[in-house]
Amino acid sequence: MREHPEDIAGVGDERLVGRTALVTGSTSGIGRETALTLGRLGAHVIVHGRDADAGGEVVDAVEDGVNEGTAEFVRADFADPEEVSRLADRTRTAAGDGGLDLLINNAGGYFREGRLTDLGVEYTFHVNHLAPYQLTAALLDDLAEDARVVTTASEAHRGDQVDLEAVRSVDGYSSWRAYQRSKLANVQFAAELGRRLDERDDRSVTSNSFHPGAIPGSGFLRDLPGPLSRVAGALDRLPFVTSPPEGAATAVYLAVAPEVADVTGRYYADLRPKQPSTAARDRHAQRRLWETSAELLGIDEPLAGDGSGTEEGRPEAGGVADADATAVGDEPAE
Ligand SMILES: NC(=O)c1ccc[n+]([C@@H]2O[C@H](COP(=O)([O-])OP(=O)(O)OC[C@H]3O[C@@H](n4cnc5c(N)ncnc54)[C@H](OP(=O)(O)O)[C@@H]3O)[C@@H](O)[C@H]2O)c1
Repeated sequence: MREHPEDIAGVGDERLVGRTALVTGSTSGIGRETALTLGRLGAHVIVHGRDADAGGEVVDAVEDGVNEGTAEFVRADFADPEEVSRLADRTRTAAGDGGLDLLINNAGGYFREGRLTDLGVEYTFHVNHLAPYQLTAALLDDLAEDARVVTTASEAHRGDQVDLEAVRSVDGYSSWRAYQRSKLANVQFAAELGRRLDERDDRSVTSNSFHPGAIPGSGFLRDLPGPLSRVAGALDRLPFVTSPPEGAATAVYLAVAPEVADVTGRYYADLRPKQPSTAARDRHAQRRLWETSAELLGIDEPLAGDGSGTEEGRPEAGGVADADATAVGDEPAE
């Protein structure tokens, strides 16, 4: 039998009773396993996605009576900013005065057809990056003192730049390039959030991103033509292929492990810090992404300030600078 994520991550003895977690995209795949795990550890889990039946099944599994965890499902389409706002409102209510303890920004996908959302933004970029950015911004004031924000990125982030002009168009659309760009945005977002929280927030909230592994057995390849999608799903049965529980382990580790309570602005894979791409570490690009994301959504820039600590050339506070990654014994991947 495959191990549970909490056992792989070595956090099976941690208890989250009284804690509230939002796991976006938890009707399926990596998010579903993350939600089930946090529920097993005793948390109240807000299960999110668009598929209400699948969401209900996850809620039932969390509440099956074996563990103390509780759950509720909130439906929200991440291509629609109003639905993302409603998810934030529901989360605020569920978290109550204690605040939200864990925000797992996991929802996302690979989309074959190029299209624009109602905001005029390329769909993959909007769903995979802009929506979690909007959600996080909406929940910033509602995070608990020691909350952790974990964002599901990917090794697919390597090899691309975030061309912020191109995100307003689907001319020459390439589904893979669009996916790569959105995952690079996830790494940059998590690093910029970590730094801004460090500099402009009194709480000890952390932000990290991670690569879950290549997991064909999740719903990730559902948008491939029928037969290919079925073949991808069948690969899950092969022993050497990463499973959704294995993919969820690093999310669970970053969300729960005591030894990473103060780690922020980092990128992880296989439970270890890993050097992300040069583009991902570009502080100017991180800042531009942050500012442009607010503009695209028509919202005030979250955690805005004088920006003095984010100027190029200044020492990094908790980010993913080369020196920082080297300090934790990480070997550059490039
Ligand atoms: N699988 C891999 O190999 C792999 C590798 C690296 C990174 N990742 C990342 O892992 C994350 C989870 O993917 P997965 O592999 O677990 O795939 P999955 O099984 O397809 O799960 C995707 C989740 O995102 C939700 N979602 C997708 N589009 C949405 C939208 N427009 N609005 C709201 N929710 C939406 C889905 O919910 P509904 O179906 O209910 O809408 C589902 O719960 C993604 O961010 C993906 O980029 C996956």
